[in-house]
Amino acid sequence: MSLSVTLTVNRVQHRVLLDDPRVTLLDLLRERLQLTGTKKGCDRGQCGACTILLNGRRVNACLALALSHDGAEILTIEGLADGAALHPVQAAFIAHDAFQCGFCTPGQIMSAIGLISEGQAGSDAERVREGMSGNLCRCGAYRGITEAVVAATR
Ligand code: FES
Ligand code: FES
Repeated sequence: MSLSVTLTVNRVQHRVLLDDPRVTLLDLLRERLQLTGTKKGCDRGQCGACTILLNGRRVNACLALALSHDGAEILTIEGLADGAALHPVQAAFIAHDAFQCGFCTPGQIMSAIGLISEGQAGSDAERVREGMSGNLCRCGAYRGITEAVVAATR
């Protein structure tokens, strides 16, 4: 039996054949579409490195089965910049020195965009920290991340 899923990823439609119904969106993005900006950290929903926007909502791509999301619209870190123009949240992360090694950064940025579009960010740093609590940073760049999200919300 051949399985397939059709997804619109960063405004481009893809039909992907799957040889295993257990393929996650994370593995599909990274291994089938070569979109490796979405990172695999824990692969079990605990670190947020794999955060994407799925139909406008932030999700951990490592927990989402591709087959369950046929027809979905996905936005990843690769789909944010418009040519040389960075997305405002990307620019805010640079301006506020919101990363060190950068491994968690794509997930942090996608989560921040989701948080802002949910209307759950704002100028309250505590609220932003809580809203971003699913995104871990081993480098401890939390202060810059919070400042960047607050700045990008303005
Ligand atoms: Fe998905 Fe860690 S890789 S939450
Ligand atoms: Fe290194 Fe966050 S910047 S893990």
